Amino acid sequence: MIICTEFDTINKKPKVVVKLTNKNLIDLEAMSVEQIDKIVRRAKKIMKSPADYRHACDGKILATLFYEPSTRTQMSFQTAMLKLGGRTIGFDNPMNSSVSKGENLKDTISVISGYSDIIAIRHPLEGTAMAASLYSEVPLINCGDGGHLHPTQTLTDIVTLSCEKGRLDNLKIGVCGDLLNGRTVHSLIKTLAKYPNNSFVLISTPELCVPLYIIDILEKNGCKYEISNSLADAVTDLDMLYMTRIQRERFKSEEDYQAQKNVFVLDREKLDKARDDMIILHPLPRVNEITVEIDDDPRALYFKQAQYGMYGRMALILLLIQDDDFLIEERPAQLFDSSTGCQARCKNPKCITQIETYLPRRGYRKLGMRMCDYCDKRID
Ligand code: CP
Repeated sequence: MIICTEFDTINKKPKVVVKLTNKNLIDLEAMSVEQIDKIVRRAKKIMKSPADYRHACDGKILATLFYEPSTRTQMSFQTAMLKLGGRTIGFDNPMNSSVSKGENLKDTISVISGYSDIIAIRHPLEGTAMAASLYSEVPLINCGDGGHLHPTQTLTDIVTLSCEKGRLDNLKIGVCGDLLNGRTVHSLIKTLAKYPNNSFVLISTPELCVPLYIIDILEKNGCKYEISNSLADAVTDLDMLYMTRIQRERFKSEEDYQAQKNVFVLDREKLDKARDDMIILHPLPRVNEITVEIDDDPRALYFKQAQYGMYGRMALILLLIQDDDFLIEERPAQLFDSSTGCQARCKNPKCITQIETYLPRRGYRKLGMRMCDYCDKRID
């Protein structure tokens, strides 16, 4: 709980406000710019003197629960904990756990949080990390929930930008590819929109453009943005180009995927039009959207980015486990249940509430609409 003072614009005087807080990282949006900057500073300190942190998490256990495949996120979290002196448990295939016997998320998390000091979870359904956090006694980190969010990828991107460009503001950022299903893009835009004078070029086909709620965020934060369907045109004046994979696994049909794949490919010819100081990031895995001939170009930083991510995750683990003042503010959710006379249930077929039907109905209001507290989609 945080007790702070805010200015009451109606009564025109300061008022004391009590905010609910926790130690879970579900959505980077819940973190202040100061907190994000603190993670970046800590990551840089670890990079400079890794030996100072070799025993920082002695005796601590990280559980990695990956219901969906991963190379970087899972292994960089595991490496992060090992480099801090801790140990890891977990699964990377739920079919090798009692999930295969029908165990629900609530029971799995209730048990694992009794075995570990911190949990990192990835799941194909949207809102799963939020749902899991309701049953965890230890800090829980969202490592990707369907096409929704991937906050620690954004930490990776932010640490990379800060180290390589020396700033997180006054940047012209191009994001290209599957802007509809790419959870990394959503988290990145939401976070960079908090920093002053960042502008965005959104490069995609009309079918894969960013969801409206992201445009909403850009407009609310007063960020300039352009929508483009030409990578060759957009690449000429950027500080950073963020390429993304077309997310085959999130398409309704193979035919729909085939129509979108390989529309945007960064190759030598296009890169020759870019500035010498532009950096190229990609959350990886890459499929065809960046040709391998570019890998040796000094602007191609995607492999280095994956390594920066490990340091960002080391910093995050440390702050969540050890720093009592590092608390993340909860969104004040209004419970949609019989006590409020509302039985509304989220209709998003990709929301965790469709499968784990015991989950309490939770929602909040935004622009007069009721939104699902798990997946952030409109309830009605
Ligand atoms: N960037 C990223 O999330 O990679 P993995 O899917 O390999 O974890």
